[in-house]
Amino acid sequence: MLNIAVLVSGSGSNLQAIIDSVEKGEINGKIVTVVSNKPGVYALERAKIHNIPSCVIESKGNLHFTSQLLKHLKENNVDLIVLAGFLCILKEEILNQYKNKIINVHPSLIPSFCGDGFYGLKVHEAALNYGVKVTGATVHFVNEVTDGGKIILQKAVEIKDGDTPQILQKRVMEQAEWIILPKAIKMICDNEIKED
Ligand code: GAR
Repeated sequence: MLNIAVLVSGSGSNLQAIIDSVEKGEINGKIVTVVSNKPGVYALERAKIHNIPSCVIESKGNLHFTSQLLKHLKENNVDLIVLAGFLCILKEEILNQYKNKIINVHPSLIPSFCGDGFYGLKVHEAALNYGVKVTGATVHFVNEVTDGGKIILQKAVEIKDGDTPQILQKRVMEQAEWIILPKAIKMICDNEIKED
């Protein structure tokens, strides 16, 4: 059974999808900690409701963010780090120590609309501005290239006439992210994925 840390920065709807899947017994792992780099986000509330330990390690203006996060991960014997709407770039020190043990969900079909500066609604704005007819979500391993690690799962989602970034974000979450993120975690916990 893997010890899972979920790192968040916002509403935590992806965290919720993972919690639901764990509670249904689909994932052979345990969420041992939820870490937010921002105080007061709703994801922390979700952890609390489900009796999952959580903490805030602020990234903004914090020179010790990386060492504090590393210490916390070690103390909790974390085997797998899941970035679920975590909008902060992890430093090499963490990537090196958790090689092939960090995954991220990104709200587009990588390699489209990804990399530095593409996060949250900006991704959907870019897809709509470009005029693509299909978008989706990707779960991938995290390496030193932003959104550049090996792809684990992807799922396509249709873009419809009249979509706004908000409408599209909701559809991509419902039809792709909330499905493929728990599924990828399950596959890793079941040792079904060859590492990078
Ligand atoms: C999600 O759409 C996630 O894919 C995206 O932020 C949102 C967080 O929502 N992540 C990125 O853009 C990372 N590059 P949530 O807090 O409700 O899970």
